[in-house]
Amino acid sequence: MNLNQLVKSVEDEVIELRRHFHQHPEVSGEEFETSKKIQEMLQQAGIPFKTGFATTGVLGIIQGEKPGGTVALRADIDALPIQEENDHDYQSKYADKMHACGHDAHTAMLYGVGKVLNQLRSELAGTVLLVFQPAEENAPVGGSQQMMDEGVFQEFKPDVIYGQHVWPDLPSGEVGVLPNEMMGASDRFKITIQGSGGHASMPHQTNDAIIIAGNLITQLQTIVSRNTDPLDSAVVTIGRIDGGYRYNVVADKVTLEGTVRTFKKEVKEMVKKRFSSIVEGIEKSFAANIKIDYLDGYPATINTPKWAEQVIETTQKILGESSTPAVSPSLGGEDFSRFLQQYPGAFYWLGTSVSDTSRQYPLHDPRFKLNEEALNKGVELMAQLAVDTLKKLEKEELETHESY
Ligand code: NI
Repeated sequence: MNLNQLVKSVEDEVIELRRHFHQHPEVSGEEFETSKKIQEMLQQAGIPFKTGFATTGVLGIIQGEKPGGTVALRADIDALPIQEENDHDYQSKYADKMHACGHDAHTAMLYGVGKVLNQLRSELAGTVLLVFQPAEENAPVGGSQQMMDEGVFQEFKPDVIYGQHVWPDLPSGEVGVLPNEMMGASDRFKITIQGSGGHASMPHQTNDAIIIAGNLITQLQTIVSRNTDPLDSAVVTIGRIDGGYRYNVVADKVTLEGTVRTFKKEVKEMVKKRFSSIVEGIEKSFAANIKIDYLDGYPATINTPKWAEQVIETTQKILGESSTPAVSPSLGGEDFSRFLQQYPGAFYWLGTSVSDTSRQYPLHDPRFKLNEEALNKGVELMAQLAVDTLKKLEKEELETHESY
């Protein structure tokens, strides 16, 4: 069987496996049954694997019968602490846990890719690594760095690494990829304002934390509107505010929580610097006490132009010339960024919008759904991408030798 036929032969199994994971979601750091199931499936498929990276991470290893380069393919395996609100017949069986980011599909597709490529071993020149990564949703820690720290690539070092993510904004059969910035850097902060409380009728005896918070919120917004180059991107969002007791009491304490999103390193550094000087300025001018907890999150996901180009080439070969529409980068954070800091590669979006609804619910929504028709395409694309990339690496290797 050729690659295309092999992909067809695993289609039902991939959908079934995705539904199994969907019904049994496990959140970051608790992917024990998910990990066990992955190992079971790899074993059945005759794919050697290693375990124990970031506790529940699994590395499948497919060695081609000819020597060559190494291509790593990554799927994240964790779910979110969300109560599912869909009514399909493979709903999450666990309360407050849901695969609302499609990692169930990523995991099932990577298994399918492994099963296909394992049957093409006699033709493969090089090694394909199947990286099943836990804790992607656990920003800013994540599972990718821990997997690398614990030696996931010690034996086989990737020449190229790819990751795919289901994408509800694109239809099935389309793929989004960009040559450089793909996803944003995602930082998280908490600000604690300590003033002093008292009676609402005697404000002069207090230091009103709500007034301080109001000023702080307004000033923080000037980082984007006044300090950021209009041609660059930055977001400062305060998503949560908490403080006060009742209508006639001046609040002594307010906490604010939020996130900063950027693409460029220098923009991120500028935002961070302005962030702390604004807080310090407000602290001084109101004679309050303000504490900042700033957590540096996932870095920006920056593709290697050459391998992003490979994604386009392979996608168009399989899905047609109009299958790679122009897309804008997203300021969502992604743990794959850390793999891309160490190895060349690309992250791309696999179109999975649902056709039988007028409204697409976004990733992380309790009503998020994906189009299972796209899974087969995702399997074929990733498998073909591995084959094409190994061929390219082989060709480059030959060319370097010829030039001596
Ligand atoms: Ni995700």
